[in-house]
Amino acid sequence: MQLLHLDSSIQGETSVTRLLSAAVVERYRQRVDGIAVDYRDLAAAPLPHITLPRFGTDAAEAVLAEFLAADVLVLGVPMYNFGIPSQLKSWFDHILVAGKTFRYGAGGVEGLAAAKKAVVVLSRGGVYSEGPAAPMEHAETHLRAMLGFIGIDRPQIIVAEGVAMGDEPRRAAIDAALAAVAHVAEAKQPVGA
Ligand SMILES: Cc1cc2nc3c(=O)[nH]c(=O)nc-3n(C[C@H](O)[C@H](O)[C@H](O)COP(=O)(O)O)c2cc1C
Repeated sequence: MQLLHLDSSIQGETSVTRLLSAAVVERYRQRVDGIAVDYRDLAAAPLPHITLPRFGTDAAEAVLAEFLAADVLVLGVPMYNFGIPSQLKSWFDHILVAGKTFRYGAGGVEGLAAAKKAVVVLSRGGVYSEGPAAPMEHAETHLRAMLGFIGIDRPQIIVAEGVAMGDEPRRAAIDAALAAVAHVAEAKQPVGA
């Protein structure tokens, strides 16, 4: 099994999503013998914006090939200004490619990456799962749309929110997320489930 691990937080060692995504990958290493892991740090080594000249270049094709080779995708996703980091958006711009990860047919769009599994860990400073800020949540919704578009319509999403609202809420949110990580890669969960 091939796992692709992506981080996109700019917050280094204090990052919640880096902590959680590493825990997810560690969980896979424990559960799956011989798992191979590719790692890409989109904050330390940002991809350029996709442009017409960049389409089809070796560099862009390599990003797509790395994704196509993966059975499992583990994404560390901070909420920045109500959405995903632009570095991560650029990665998606490299992998949502017509004819490779989706195609249009008579029945509409067909995702071509449906056999892959995705585990997303998402961290937000405030609370968006309920209350007045809920309509401003554009990170989880955008991720679900992009993953669903390529056929990954049941990503496992683990959220730590309210992490900027004080030490205690931050600790509680991280602990709850780590408890959820303990259920990732359950023995009977097939790829694509
Ligand atoms: C540039 C930047 C923008 C942010 N924007 C938001 C935001 O719109 N809403 C929010 O609730 N938290 C926001 N935060 C807080 C982060 O979502 C929070 O720190 C989260 O833990 C980020 O994940 P990380 O710890 O892995 O970096 C922002 C943080 C930074 C650094």
